[in-house]
Amino acid sequence: MKACVAALSVMITFLGVSLAFGRQEKEPRYKYQKDGLVYAEIAKAPEKARAKRNPMDKDPDALAAGANLFEQHCSECHGDIGEGGKKGPSLLAPEVQNAEPGAIFWILTNGVVRRGMPVWSKLPEPQRWQLVRYIKSLGGLPAKPENPPVPTP
Ligand code: HEC
Repeated sequence: MKACVAALSVMITFLGVSLAFGRQEKEPRYKYQKDGLVYAEIAKAPEKARAKRNPMDKDPDALAAGANLFEQHCSECHGDIGEGGKKGPSLLAPEVQNAEPGAIFWILTNGVVRRGMPVWSKLPEPQRWQLVRYIKSLGGLPAKPENPPVPTP
């Protein structure tokens, strides 16, 4: 009988803990801004961070280096080509593909630790920019009407 009560109380504690976790921090990932639905975290990137140009844009080796880094550090959560996995969202989504390179860099630098995205500030800046270049190369839909789709021959 005692054992039974003990087992029951363990179960109740467990239930309580899992309920508490389930209820934890369910702030929405997206919010509305004047441009429509914006990924909440990227939308927090300060103006100054967004305005930064990718210094790796003209580096011919940056893309390959970025792909390499991605496989090493990111694919475990975001999938082999950033398509998303069990632990991380797709990076092919328009919120990411249409974000300024500076905003993606900012996310890498700061992480979203409370929601499982680590901080990557230990990676040297040039490597973070290589990753940004790689993520941007993954494509997605054309960002704006003034970027029409490339006509196929
Ligand atoms: C341990 C798993 C994990 C690893 C490793 C990881 N991420 Fe993430 N990442 C996440 C999660 C979870 C989110 C979503 C956070 C949120 O909900 O705000 C995220 C968000 C992002 C975002 C914002 C876009 C979005 O829609 O959430 C970018 C960009 C990103 N990660 C890039 C990277 C890159 C580049 C690397 C490798 C340097 C990396 N991540 C490594 C888990 C991970």
